[in-house]
Amino acid sequence: MLVKFNLNGLEKEVNVKANEYLLDTLRSIGVKSVKKGCNASSCGVCTVLLDDKPVLSCSILTVRVAGHKVETVESIQEEAAKLSECFSKEGADQCGYCNAAFALMVHALRKENPNPSAEEIKEYLKGNLCRCTGYQSQQKAIRAYLGGEEK
Ligand code: FES
Ligand code: FES
Repeated sequence: MLVKFNLNGLEKEVNVKANEYLLDTLRSIGVKSVKKGCNASSCGVCTVLLDDKPVLSCSILTVRVAGHKVETVESIQEEAAKLSECFSKEGADQCGYCNAAFALMVHALRKENPNPSAEEIKEYLKGNLCRCTGYQSQQKAIRAYLGGEEK
């Protein structure tokens, strides 16, 4: 079936199966920044924004995004680059598999709550797993990026 949606500002028309998940559709059309981890709604690496809200693309059927706006890290490149600098400074830049999802989550958090406390950051990102960093350096980098170091 043909599904039309807006991807990173461009109208897309994609032929999908009725039971196809958005993660697989995005990767099949070349959007490899969206990662597949658990494929079972548990790790967060497949996060995308659907109408500005973070969703797990491994758990949403592509047919459900018809007529909606989907964004991947490509739509927030400048912000992602700045966050990546903060990750590097804190030694939080390791394999990078989780980075795109974190960047999208931080972007969404900043829109919802421009001045989050350290606890609020932690709570917001609790569904996003990282197997490399142990989270401390990442949290520090995100606090620095959001200007929340002293909260
Ligand atoms: S791949 Fe979607 S939550 Fe893990
Ligand atoms: S840096 Fe490797 S999974 Fe997060």
